[in-house]
Amino acid sequence: MTDVVRIFDTTLRDGEQSPGATLNIDEKLEIARQLVRLGVDVMEAGFPIASPGDYEAVRRIAVEIGQGDNAPIIAGLARANKADIDRAWDAVRPARKPRIHTFLATSDIHLQHKLRISREECLRRVGEMVAYARSLCEDVEFSPEDGGRSDPEFLYQVLEVAIKAGATTLNIPDTVGYTTPQEFGALIAGIREHVPGAKDVIISAHCHNDLGLATANTLAAIQNGARQAEVTINGIGERAGNTSLEEVVMALHTRPAVYGVQTNIDTTQIARVSRLVSAYTGIPVQPNKAIVGSNAFAHEAGIHQDGMLKNPLTYEIMRPETIGINESRLVLGKHSGRHAFQTKVAELGYELSSEDLNRVFDRFKDLCDKKKIVSDLDIEAIINDEVYQPVELWRLQHVQVSSGSGLRPTATVRLRGPDGVTREDAAIGAGPVDSVYRAINRIVQVSNVLTEFSIQAVTEGIDAVGEVTIRIEPTAAGTNGHREEALNPQTGPRARTYSGHGADTDIIVASAKAYMSALNKMLTVRQGE
Ligand code: KIV
Ligand code: ZN
Repeated sequence: MTDVVRIFDTTLRDGEQSPGATLNIDEKLEIARQLVRLGVDVMEAGFPIASPGDYEAVRRIAVEIGQGDNAPIIAGLARANKADIDRAWDAVRPARKPRIHTFLATSDIHLQHKLRISREECLRRVGEMVAYARSLCEDVEFSPEDGGRSDPEFLYQVLEVAIKAGATTLNIPDTVGYTTPQEFGALIAGIREHVPGAKDVIISAHCHNDLGLATANTLAAIQNGARQAEVTINGIGERAGNTSLEEVVMALHTRPAVYGVQTNIDTTQIARVSRLVSAYTGIPVQPNKAIVGSNAFAHEAGIHQDGMLKNPLTYEIMRPETIGINESRLVLGKHSGRHAFQTKVAELGYELSSEDLNRVFDRFKDLCDKKKIVSDLDIEAIINDEVYQPVELWRLQHVQVSSGSGLRPTATVRLRGPDGVTREDAAIGAGPVDSVYRAINRIVQVSNVLTEFSIQAVTEGIDAVGEVTIRIEPTAAGTNGHREEALNPQTGPRARTYSGHGADTDIIVASAKAYMSALNKMLTVRQGE
């Protein structure tokens, strides 16, 4: 029997805790759908007690994503107290395979300064709360938070208590990304050796990347017997992020002789999910990021290019096709019918309503007039731009800019408001995008600051579709620009951030759409409060 490492994806929980990565429910559902296609074994859908929105997202993922034969386990996070556990259970219980993931810190630093409880009290709570979670759900994961800095002897005691209380997975977090691969590997080996019953449960690794060691630590854990890896797409997460799914999966895939284990991941979906998560969270992927960065398969040096032409094996340890980067070009053109287009969309893994399909098809036809070759990537960009957008309270109807050397960039925009009334205004800015954003601000009138703006060509060539991703932070008018804060029970107050994305062959239009998308997201959240 092959030895399988379970992939526990926490993009929607720990990943969403990245500064600025707020996702709305529709975006979470779409990412969840794509995580199923990717083949994750466990999906941590959120932290249900954190907010009504988090609860609702986890519940809908359990109901809508967690049902089929191949549905992954749907996990919800809970601190080790009854209210959290009840809320998590309520959210995940509709799933075919629900899991409660409960945690309590075990390092002396956390016990003394954060929780202000003794080791004895910690042991008592772990026993009681794991047993309580187990009385509700058959699948219970326990995490000793800050496990990487906990006294190993105490950690063994805690884990023994958790096993006796019914935990089925023990997840060891290096919460602050402090350990080294040798230390973390030894910690996992020590747990397997010294904790009674540890060999009968699954040991899991959950690493953070503060020292850039998250992937190395996770792989060291696997080499020492961990059989679940907790990861996020693109490595997003608190501070420097979590272990990146694509790095661990491709290391195991590329070096089977070293690791000797497999995953259930369909690697050809990796590039796609990476783009989706980046567009929805507003967090760009650095070009030199391993596996999914835009330069990861680019060969610049002449000597490398020469080698590659002779045999790709000279400089390439993985084929781009393995992670789903290929030149797959749509054989459809401007004369293609709706049916062929619908088949293509389904092949790409999207389930669109006929209304959405019609809109996307119209955009596709438009694009065929502007662009010689329309690729799968273009279709994906149109779908993300057209379908996976927040409720359109304000709709962009028209944007026009004049700019150039010796000219003051000036924009005119026309928007349709929530009341159905069309409004038009104009503004001068430091550049064309700035002038568009100022003109929009004059109409919508919500104070905010732009904290991130990135633009990427979806494909090569001068006629490429440009995809713009932005993030804004609301500032309260009349309070000297104080930022709004949201409260997360795990992490405390944090600045609220809203991302937006837009795509068009005209980058000014794409920028305007991205801004409207972020503003609409922000206004929708405010409406719900
Ligand atoms: O990093 C951490 O400790 C966590 C736990 C809640 C598992 O995310
Ligand atoms: Zn974490």
